[in-house]
Amino acid sequence: MRKYKSWLKTLFDSKCSLKLGVQCLVILTMVYMFVYVNVTDKQGFKDDSGYVLRNRRPPLSPFEHFDEANESKTAVKFIDVTEEALNTDDWNILLTVNDGYFDFFRNWLWYYMKLNINLPITVVAEDDTVFTKIGQVCEVCTVLRSNLNISDAVNYSLPLFRTLVSTRPMHILTQLLSGKNTIYSDVDMVWMNDPRPYFDLSADMNILRDSPTKLCTGFIAIKSNNRTTKAMEKWHARLEGKSFLNQRIFNLVVNSDEINVDYKVLNTTLFPSGRDYFGNHTQEQRSKAIIVHNNWIVGHGNKKERFREFNLWKV
Ligand SMILES: *[C@@H]1O[C@H](CO)[C@@H](O)[C@H](O)[C@H]1NC(C)=O
Ligand SMILES: *[C@@H]1O[C@H](CO)[C@@H](O)[C@H](O)[C@H]1NC(C)=O
Ligand SMILES: *[C@@H]1O[C@H](CO)[C@@H](O)[C@H](O)[C@H]1NC(C)=O
Ligand SMILES: *[C@@H]1O[C@H](CO)[C@@H](O)[C@H](O)[C@H]1NC(C)=O
Ligand SMILES: *[C@@H]1O[C@H](CO)[C@@H](O)[C@H](O)[C@H]1NC(C)=O
Ligand SMILES: *[C@@H]1O[C@H](CO)[C@@H](O)[C@H](O)[C@H]1NC(C)=O
Repeated sequence: MRKYKSWLKTLFDSKCSLKLGVQCLVILTMVYMFVYVNVTDKQGFKDDSGYVLRNRRPPLSPFEHFDEANESKTAVKFIDVTEEALNTDDWNILLTVNDGYFDFFRNWLWYYMKLNINLPITVVAEDDTVFTKIGQVCEVCTVLRSNLNISDAVNYSLPLFRTLVSTRPMHILTQLLSGKNTIYSDVDMVWMNDPRPYFDLSADMNILRDSPTKLCTGFIAIKSNNRTTKAMEKWHARLEGKSFLNQRIFNLVVNSDEINVDYKVLNTTLFPSGRDYFGNHTQEQRSKAIIVHNNWIVGHGNKKERFREFNLWKV
């Protein structure tokens, strides 16, 4: 009781009130931050365009494997990648799809199935609707549900587009950490031929180039080793809070001396950018393309129209 009284006395003692005031402010700030982090996180954040984004700050593993029959979530198992994956011909394909681009996924799949190359395919579903749809059209796909729920055909450069692409390094990393050499491919592409014979297997990554000075993050073949996992971690870490710089940061990371990841640029006649293929190549050059990337154009409708015009739309 006496202690309590003396505490009260201190509280009202004018000499101490400034110090106490500062302490109170610190405590209140901490309480506010605690409530903000814990409560707002559960409710989700509102994106600039009004979408509610759940788990804005993803945990280390960006998605959980969803066992449909069981409805219980089982986490993806990680292994330590301390050595090069044994067989460098052993590739796994990784795609990310949302409902807005589901038709592009089907178009990609149409071309892929024709090649008869039977690689394992992992598809990250970015919304609930597409998660169900993918399983219905692709028996050979392993479908993972990301912790986003974005179903619109989001245009390049919108905040929501950045949110979608900024999870890419984590999705790739998850595959690499499970020991899989991974070919990441955008779905606004078609594979006219098997790309694997064109990979330089002595390099950690084989990458498509967008312009003379910029590597493209739309198609990357990545071997699973400790240099590439480091690169993905760096790419992810440097993206946090700056998701709009996805491709720029990728370029900085793979070109930094810090990690020493080595990469080869795929031949730009065989792996042209959308600007070259649609805008600048002759018919003869086009016939050589192994992969056609429908980029350097904005909007789902415009991309689809352009594939149609060049007879590359099959669904
Ligand atoms: C569902 O999955 C959990 C986690 O893997 C497992 O422990 C459980 O036995 C499974 N239940 C059924 C009915 O298969
Ligand atoms: C990568 O793994 C090799 C062994 O396979 C090891 O010698 C090397 O130190 C590792 N590098 C890094 C950066 O961890
Ligand atoms: C995802 O969005 C759909 C509607 O767009 C909604 O019905 C569903 O409940 C959402 N799922 C989660 C996990 O928030
Ligand atoms: C790229 O491939 C084309 C077609 O096969 C070939 O003519 C050209 O020399 C190659 N370019 C390089 C830099 O290897
Ligand atoms: C198209 O190709 C020509 C010849 O290779 C080149 O000079 C020109 O800069 C290219 N144009 C564009 C828009 O890339
Ligand atoms: C996306 O971009 C295209 C082409 O600029 C435009 O027509 C369309 O309205 C845009 N959609 C949204 C949702 O911003």
